[in-house]
Amino acid sequence: MALAVLVFMAAMSGAGRAEDAIEQPLTGARGDAARGRAIVTNRSVGLCLLCHSGPFPEERFQGNLAPDLKGAGSRSSEGQLRLRIVDPARINPATIMPAYHQIEGLTRVAPAYRGKPILTAEQIEDVVAFLTTLKD
Ligand code: HEC
Repeated sequence: MALAVLVFMAAMSGAGRAEDAIEQPLTGARGDAARGRAIVTNRSVGLCLLCHSGPFPEERFQGNLAPDLKGAGSRSSEGQLRLRIVDPARINPATIMPAYHQIEGLTRVAPAYRGKPILTAEQIEDVVAFLTTLKD
């Protein structure tokens, strides 16, 4: 709900192209890149490496179902990265990437997780802060 309000506010403020980006931090403040890196590489929190590889030399097993995250911060703006993590289906309706901060309109959610986003707003901001550092 809070997210819908934020997206609506972003759209109304005219701050950037709201349809392909969420320009404002969900928490009102930018996150911490070091914490974001820990979330991205964590096998039980972010699960990003199930599908993605990236510049993580210490991680032995990395996914190959999705683009390498190296350079993600050059390919997309901060706002585009935020939308991508919050709700990837808004960019690609057929995506296999989970919506990390969306609780409405989801199907096949295990009962324990119903009504809860995978990542909190703070965690989303940490991940976004980290991804913006991944420049080519
Ligand atoms: C189930 C597989 C899967 C998981 C898990 C996943 N992604 Fe993705 N991701 C994809 C796919 C596939 C794409 C390619 C675009 C598309 O199909 O939507 C993608 C695209 C991206 C992109 C844009 C591509 C680029 O590098 O420019 C970013 C950034 C991204 N993912 C970050 C993440 C992060 C961060 C996580 C963990 C919090 C994550 N993804 C978890 C499958 C996944």
